[in-house]
Amino acid sequence: MSVRIGFVGCGGIANAHMRNLARIEDAEMVAFSDIVLEKAETAASEYGGAAFEDFREMYDSVEMDAVYVCLPPFAHEDQEILAVQAGLNLFVEKPLAINMEKAREIEAAVEEAGVISCAAYHWRYHDTADWAREALEGDTIGMVLGWWMGGLPGVAWWRVKDQSGGQILEQTTHIIDMARYLAGDVERVSAEMALRVMTDVENISVPDVGTVNLRFESGAIGNITNSCVPPGWKNGLVVIGDKKTVIFDQFSFELRTQAGTETKSWQPIAAHFRESVAFVEAVESGDASGIRSDYSDGVKSLAVSLAANRSAETGEPVMLSDV
Ligand SMILES: NC(=O)c1ccc[n+]([C@@H]2O[C@H](COP(=O)([O-])OP(=O)(O)OC[C@H]3O[C@@H](n4cnc5c(N)ncnc54)[C@H](O)[C@@H]3O)[C@@H](O)[C@H]2O)c1
Repeated sequence: MSVRIGFVGCGGIANAHMRNLARIEDAEMVAFSDIVLEKAETAASEYGGAAFEDFREMYDSVEMDAVYVCLPPFAHEDQEILAVQAGLNLFVEKPLAINMEKAREIEAAVEEAGVISCAAYHWRYHDTADWAREALEGDTIGMVLGWWMGGLPGVAWWRVKDQSGGQILEQTTHIIDMARYLAGDVERVSAEMALRVMTDVENISVPDVGTVNLRFESGAIGNITNSCVPPGWKNGLVVIGDKKTVIFDQFSFELRTQAGTETKSWQPIAAHFRESVAFVEAVESGDASGIRSDYSDGVKSLAVSLAANRSAETGEPVMLSDV
C-alpha cells in the first residue's frame, strides 16, 4: 500500500524531496500547499495531486498518511500541530523552528499524537556518517571540531536574523547535529559572532562569521565555526578519539590511527533519498527504527544553535538546561 504524502511549502528543498519521492515506489504525492499557490500548482502538475494555497484546506480535503513540512524557520506556526492532531505522520525540515517555545509546543503535540516523526538531518544518512560512527565505536572522544564555510543562500529570508536565526541555526545545525550524533549531548555553549564584511548586502542582519565552543555532557569539548562570506571553503568535522581521529564531510572520509591513514573514496550523495526511504518505510510498517533523528532529537540540535545565539548576544556562556 502506498504512503500518501502532502507538502506544506513547495520551495527549494521541497522540490528536492519531491524528486526523491518520485523514485520511491511506495510513496505517492497526493497534495501540495504553498502560500504562493503557483508553486503548489507547478508541483501538482509535475507529480499529480491537488494544489492548495492554505494547508488547512489540504488537511481537511485530502486523504493523506504523512506530510512534509518544508518551511523557512520563522514560518512554523500550527502546520505541524494540526497535522499530527489529524493523525498525519510528520517529516520536518531542519531547523525545526525559530525558537524553543514553538519547537517544544510541536514536540508535545507529536508525542501526544503518537505519530512517526522525522527531523530532516540528512547528514546522518551519509555513508561517511556511518563510517565515522563505526570507526569511533568504543573510543573515548576528546574533541570535536566542525566548520561550515559556505556562501550566502539566495532566498531573501535567510539574511534576516529574525526569520532564519542566522547561519548557526540554518546551516551549521547540520554540523552541530553530527557532533551530537558522534559525541553525545551538549551541556554548555559559549559563542562569538559578528557581521564584519558583508555589511553592504541589502537587509542583512545575520552575523557573517561566528565561532562556538562546546562542552559535551561526556566531558568532551568542541568548536564549531562558520562563515557565509563568499566564496566559502567547505563543511566538515574532525573527531579526535583516544585511538582514532576521523576527518569527514559529505563526500570524503579519512581515518587516522598510529598505524597510518585510511581514506575512503567519494560516494554519490544519496543521503536525502535514504532519509525519505527511511521515513516512507517507517510510516508503512509502523516501525520507526530506521529514522535516525525524530522530532525530539531534532529539538536538541536546535537548542544548541539557540544557546549559541544567546551566548553571542549576551557575552555569557549558556547552559543547555537553561534554553
Ligand atoms: N536539509 C537540507 O539539505 C536543506 C537544504 C535546503 C533547505 N533546507 C531547509 O528547508 C527549509 C526551507 O528552505 P528552502 O530552501 O526550501 O526555502 P524556500 O524559500 O525555497 O521555500 C520555502 C517555501 O515555503 C513557502 N511558505 C509557506 N508558508 C510560508 C510562510 N508563512 N512564509 C514564508 N514562506 C512560506 C514559500 O512560499 C516557499 O515556497 C529551511 O528550514 C531550510 O533550512 C534544508
